[in-house]
Amino acid sequence: MIDDLSPAMLEQWYPALLSSELHDKPVPAKLFGQQIVLFRTSNGVHAFKDLCIHRGVPLSLGKVENDELVCAYHGWRYNGCGNCVRIPSLPADRAIPDKAKASAYACFEQHGLVWICLGTPKADVPSFFANMDEELKIVLMGPYELAAAGPRIVENFLDVSHLMFVHEGLLGDSQFPEIQDYRVNEYNGVLRTDEIVVFQPDADGRGTSMNSHYTYEVYGPFTAALIKRNPDNGEMFHLFLMVLPMTEQKSRAYMLKARNYDKDAPDDAFIAFQDTLIEQDRVMVENQKPELLPLDLQAELHLKCDRMSIAYRQRLKQWGVTFGTA
Ligand code: FES
Ligand code: CO
Repeated sequence: MIDDLSPAMLEQWYPALLSSELHDKPVPAKLFGQQIVLFRTSNGVHAFKDLCIHRGVPLSLGKVENDELVCAYHGWRYNGCGNCVRIPSLPADRAIPDKAKASAYACFEQHGLVWICLGTPKADVPSFFANMDEELKIVLMGPYELAAAGPRIVENFLDVSHLMFVHEGLLGDSQFPEIQDYRVNEYNGVLRTDEIVVFQPDADGRGTSMNSHYTYEVYGPFTAALIKRNPDNGEMFHLFLMVLPMTEQKSRAYMLKARNYDKDAPDDAFIAFQDTLIEQDRVMVENQKPELLPLDLQAELHLKCDRMSIAYRQRLKQWGVTFGTA
């Protein structure tokens, strides 16, 4: 399956796990249908293909000992680079075969997530990290397990005209559903909309009335962002969506919200609010047909307010994203 992935998919960082999910035991994860094992040593986090080259047992069934991943079946020991450093059944005077290696993937940990890249990373960190302003209060939300294709989830996030219906009372008002025309531009490879004004009766669930200004961004096939700004009081946040496409129709989504207001307030209310929104979106994305996002623009009917969705589909086509698309 991995051989079918385009360079644009392989060079991206994907959020494999929460840092808090990875302790002293190996943990399995899945990306593009590929089984991966993650583990932690004194040198940091590591990711391998979850397969022992000896007899094909998942390495995630094993254990971590002395900074080595030990296979459960015959005890072969792999160091953090994937090299087999000990084969217990091999007499001491025999060399370990050169081919005794695990396939290692690039892996690092930041903002409470363990990130992996199956190919050669395009950059040291996901490109949107550049917008993670230190001054902002950052909170991690998720994981949200969704029985939906990754591209369907990203497109739902970029969809401005559903706010007044799916999230009525929280993010919009169905009495004020009209969306002005907006353009999609590109800066340094990032797709970005003009600011779109959305009437918000009860923004952020905090009982204030305001007109909110939304800017949507696409950073990669499975990474998007929203900047929401209240021009009356200067409050704003960035909301980053990062999707782990596990299989074509099963995904894990994480969000990072970086806000410039209520920085001393506990994060729980922000997380609970996002959890509510995701449950509302779940009903849509888990029921869309076809399940895979159609990249043929004739396949569904588009309006001007869907311009970002159109741009996203076109970009997925350019990127050669064949996973979760049709
Ligand atoms: Fe892993 Fe034999 S299958 S050591
Ligand atoms: Co929504």
